[in-house]
Amino acid sequence: MNARLKLDDPALLDGLAARVAAARTLLRAIADDFSPAAFASSLGAEDMVLTDLIHRDQLAIEIFSLDTGRLPLETYDLIAEVKKHYGLALRLYFPRHDLVETWTSENGINGFYESVEQRKGCCFVRKVEPLQRALAGRKAWITGLRASQAATRDGLPMRSVDVANGGLEKFNPLADWSEREVWAYLNQNQVPYNALHDKFYPSIGCAPCTRPITPGEDVRAGRWWWENPQSKECGLHVKRA
Ligand code: ADX
Ligand code: SF4
Repeated sequence: MNARLKLDDPALLDGLAARVAAARTLLRAIADDFSPAAFASSLGAEDMVLTDLIHRDQLAIEIFSLDTGRLPLETYDLIAEVKKHYGLALRLYFPRHDLVETWTSENGINGFYESVEQRKGCCFVRKVEPLQRALAGRKAWITGLRASQAATRDGLPMRSVDVANGGLEKFNPLADWSEREVWAYLNQNQVPYNALHDKFYPSIGCAPCTRPITPGEDVRAGRWWWENPQSKECGLHVKRA
């Protein structure tokens, strides 16, 4: 697991203890004050930290995943591993078959490579529309977003009102965590993680839209690699103007 990150540094572990305490306090407050709340997990490293924390405190927060139908095999393996390790069956939301059928017949099975507009169209059908159903009736949702993940996530708050999704609260408990802190937590707590992370995939989405990075490349360089960094969001996380 991520040897390049030097996870046994005492200063790192001290800082991590404080971050973990703050995240646990926040998650408990969300469970108590914003029920029904849900956590959206893509099974990425950050999401495994949050899954572990929610399970550790047995919080009443439903964990769901958007199964786009194009996820890597390793992600499906991790969904099965989460069930085995925690006894936790993630709730899966699938895209509407009629929308996928229409989109693929109009754009082609891999039409998302052709333009940013088509790529966003596919993400809408396979991720954004299912997310809207997953969030219906919720008071809050939780994500594994971190500010330092991407230029598009600079200044990410830990809490905001998600206007794009109907005004519910959106919490990003790991907003100020570093990549090293995430991996130190997974290491310290023996949390299962996606096998692709050990194959140079720091950020994982759908299989056809994710590739490994080379040393020195940005952690999100492998996502929609053919696009400009400023367009690399799929519509799940819309920033307020
Ligand atoms: S994305 O917008 O580029 O796809 P990223 O992979 O960085 O997002 O994940 C950021 C957060 O979005 C995750 O921590 C998770 O909360 C949510 N998310 C992304 N993809 C999914 C998914 N398929 N199912 C559920 N949540 C997701
Ligand atoms: Fe479609 Fe790629 Fe978006 Fe997945 S990441 S929904 S395959 S465009």
